Parts: sequence; C-alpha cells; structure tokens
Amino acid sequence: MALLERLRDLLGPSGFVADGEDRAPFERDWTGVYRGEALAVAMPSAVDELRAVVRLAAEAGIAIVPQGGNTGMCAGAVPRERSLLLSTKRLDAIRSVDPRDWSVTAEAGVVLADLQAAAQSVDRFFPLRLGSEGSATIGGLVSTNAGGTRAVRYGVMRDLVLGLEVVLPDGRLWNGLSRLRKDVTGYDLRHLFIGAEGTLGIVTAATLRLYPAEPAIASAFCGVPSVASAMEFLDIARQKSCDAIVTFEIMSKPCIDLAAAHVDGVRRPLAGEHRWHVLVEIAAHDGAARLESCLVGAMERGVVADAVIAQSLADAAGFWRIREGVVEAQPRLGLSIKHDVSVPLDAVAAFCERAEAEMRRRLPASIPLFLGHCGDGNIHANLAQARTPADIFTASTARLTAAIHDIAEALGGSISAEHGIGFKKRDEFLARTDPVEFDLMSRIKRALDPADKMNPGVLMPPMQQREAAE
Ligand code: FAD
Ligand code: MLT
Ligand code: ZN
Repeated sequence: MALLERLRDLLGPSGFVADGEDRAPFERDWTGVYRGEALAVAMPSAVDELRAVVRLAAEAGIAIVPQGGNTGMCAGAVPRERSLLLSTKRLDAIRSVDPRDWSVTAEAGVVLADLQAAAQSVDRFFPLRLGSEGSATIGGLVSTNAGGTRAVRYGVMRDLVLGLEVVLPDGRLWNGLSRLRKDVTGYDLRHLFIGAEGTLGIVTAATLRLYPAEPAIASAFCGVPSVASAMEFLDIARQKSCDAIVTFEIMSKPCIDLAAAHVDGVRRPLAGEHRWHVLVEIAAHDGAARLESCLVGAMERGVVADAVIAQSLADAAGFWRIREGVVEAQPRLGLSIKHDVSVPLDAVAAFCERAEAEMRRRLPASIPLFLGHCGDGNIHANLAQARTPADIFTASTARLTAAIHDIAEALGGSISAEHGIGFKKRDEFLARTDPVEFDLMSRIKRALDPADKMNPGVLMPPMQQREAAE
C-alpha cells in the first residue's frame, strides 16, 4: 500500500514497524484482555515528522490510534479495524525544566518517572504518582486526565497542566504551550484535549506545574473497622494536620491477604486482623508530630483500631509495596472485573457497602478487592474470579458492572474517576450520559475531527453509528 511505503520512507527503519510479530506488543493492552490489529506502527521522533504522519494518514483516509506507555485501563490505545498505531515512544525530550518558573515542558513520550527525576534534579517536585509511573507517558496521562495516589493534595493531571502542544487531525499544530498561571483570553482549549483520550488530536508536548520538594514524609498503615470509620479518620486527619495529607488510600482485608500471599517481600504491618486498612501520608516539617496527633484523635474516637508509623524509608516503602502489590497480584486469583468509580466523599461508605453486597450476592465464590484513593472519593471496586468458574464469571461481568455503576450513579457518582472511558466503557458512558451533554461532546468531536479519524470508537461510538442514531 502506498501509505505504508511513504511512512517507511518518512520514518526509516527505527520509526516504522509493519511486521506482525514486532507489532504484537503494541496491539494488546497491558492486561492482555484487549487485542487488535494495526496496519502498522509509526514512531515519529520529532513533531514535524508526527505532523507528516497525520497528514499522510488523513490523505489515505486511515484512522489513527495514539499510544503512549500502553498502561491504560480502558483499552483506548488498542488499534481497531486496521488503523495506524501512532506511538509517541520516540518523542521523549524534556524540552526545559524551569525552576524559577516552577514549570517543566516535556514531550508526549516522556515517561512519568523520568519527568519526576528531572524535577528532582533542580530541587522541584512533580506530584503525579501512580503504580504505572515507570511506563506511563505525559501524553497518555494528559489524555486520560490521570489521578493516582497524590491527587488528594495536588489534584489530577488537569490541575497540573499549564499549556499543551497538539497536532490536530488535519496535521496543523496548535501551539498552546503557555506557562501562564492566569490567562482569560477566550476559551481555554487545553481543557478540551485533557481527558480526550486521543479523540481530538495528538498531544505532542505539555508544560506542567512544579512544586517545592516535599519535606520528610510521615507515613502510617492503619487498621480501621469500616469504610465509614476511614472517612471519619480522613476528616480528623485533614483538620488536625492543617490539610497536610498527601495520600489517603484504602484497602479491604482481602487486598492485604492477596499481597501478603503473592507479592515478594510483603510483610503485614499490623499484628491483628482488620476489615479495612488506610495508608496515610503527611508532608510537613513536623509531619511525624502531626501524624501522631491525627492518630491519637482518630483512636480516641474509635475510628482507627491500630496503626504503625513508618520509622524509616524502608518501612514506608513496605507500605507502598502492599498498596501497589495488590494490582500486580490480582491476576493470581484468576480473571478480574475492575471498576473505577467516584462518589461524593460522604457517600463512599454507602457505595462500598452496597457494591460489596452486590458482588457477594451475584458471585459468592469470587473475592471483592476494594482499594483506591478514598481521600478523593475514588474507589476501585474490583472483583477477582477465585473459585467462580471462568464461563460464569465472564458471563456475569457486564451485568455486575452495570449494577456497580447503578449504585455509584444513584449516589451522585461517576463510572470513571481517573481511567477514562476508552473502548471498554463507551457504551455505558453513552447510555448514562445526559443527551444534551452527549450532543455537545459529539459536536466538539465533529468540529475538530470531521472525518472521525482520531481514535474512532473510543469515548464515543464511530460517526456512522452516531449519525444513524440522530
Ligand atoms: P496509553 O495507555 O498509551 O493511552 C491511554 C489513552 O490516551 C488512549 O486512549 C490513547 O489513545 C491516548 N493517548 C496516549 N498518548 C496520547 C497522546 N500523546 N495524544 C493523544 N492521546 C494519547 N491511572 C490513574 O489515573 N491512577 C492510577 O493510580 C493508576 N494506576 C495504575 C497502576 C497500574 C499498575 C497500571 C498498569 C495502570 C494504572 N493507571 C492509573 C492507568 C494508566 O497508567 C493511566 O491511564 C495513564 O495515564 C496511561 O498512560 P499511557 O502513557 O500508558 O497511555
Ligand atoms: C490503582 O489505583 O492502583 C489503579 O488505578 C489500579 C486499579 O484500578 O486496579
Ligand atoms: Zn487508581
């Protein structure tokens, strides 16, 4: 095909993959559940090259699926219907680190851990933290509006983006790499592309906020009797620490059992057994004292039953090994059903109670694994297959997910707090979104991508399907 030859000429052997075996790692998501087939993989190493790829694909009428680190949870970067997979792996320059401006400008393919290290090298801090930070890229994090374990203090990716550079579906470049904190000249276009999951254009670079290096972190691993207690602990901790909480993560007992059984080097931090656990961290010069005061207050109220404070960085790393180990070890219990809901903070306990009851009623031989960023009202109400036969588990997935989402919706919540919609949740998103809101989104999509060639079928149905429904 002429397009493939032209791409090969443009990108050279290190920027172009057409062979089936070499394409394979780009064609499945990290869970291995979602797979597709790409026409080829294009890996431009410069923005002008990327623009030329977009123009060539547009001329040939071929759809583009952008991909960064391929760690997404909603199958948004999996190629469909022989589209061209556009990997940003080689677009990996950190263009500038500006400590006096408290900002950094990095290209889309920069891996989050590398950006964090660059900030640290000038005594600054980039606060986005998540289990996939060794692979997830700036472009993917912007495009999914990622959250993670420090959002309770610093907000989500949207809150950290000052400016963006984007290649539009027709190949034009929008240079919106502003470093301004305040600017009210017209519509703030960056917000359209944040969380757009590659459906409106390709993010090629971002200017991001930096923060002061965090002072010593005080960490505690706590046993709590219920989710309601955990949320009361959050209130106490926010008040008593003067809002210096940087992490407030919850895990149900089966999560701890799973990590202890299957993750190397995990030790249970607490002697007794508790139904729920909270990993809390405070960043402040007197963090240890503030943390102690929070724990004393919470224990007096009976909302924390037991707690251990990290005495060293190794202790704190051990707490994190448990938190991150749960995600890593979940496949050891067989197939998984994952959810990513958020509800108002005062509805977190009700959500967990109802969602767990629903899971136990429908699939009693499976194991609910509840964990997440409960300081933000974001719970991953996951279910591990365990002793349920695979065919029954698989056949029950859609109905269970709909029921969990119904519970979240009834409590004023969202079916996607931080992972996006992707291909996985598209139909549910459509079914649950207010028609006026969906119409506005559809019009934005049509205005920016009239030919529907930017990640079609992700976030919203392909154009023909939308037009047929109108
Ligand atoms: P990809 O998976 O490659 O792509 C994700 C989406 O963005 C796709 O729709 C893709 O088409 C689009 N895209 C990618 N790059 C671009 C670009 N340059 N321009 C336009 N569109 C683009 N997420 C959280 O929010 N919080 C967590 O705590 C968290 N923990 C995780 C833990 C683990 C172990 C794993 C595996 C994942 C976790 N994730 C979490 C999910 C994931 O890491 C995030 O969604 C991340 O933002 C994806 O980045 P990526 O570079 O891998 O993007
Ligand atoms: C996390 O918070 O660890 C992730 O979002 C992973 C998950 O949902 O399982
Ligand atoms: Zn998460």
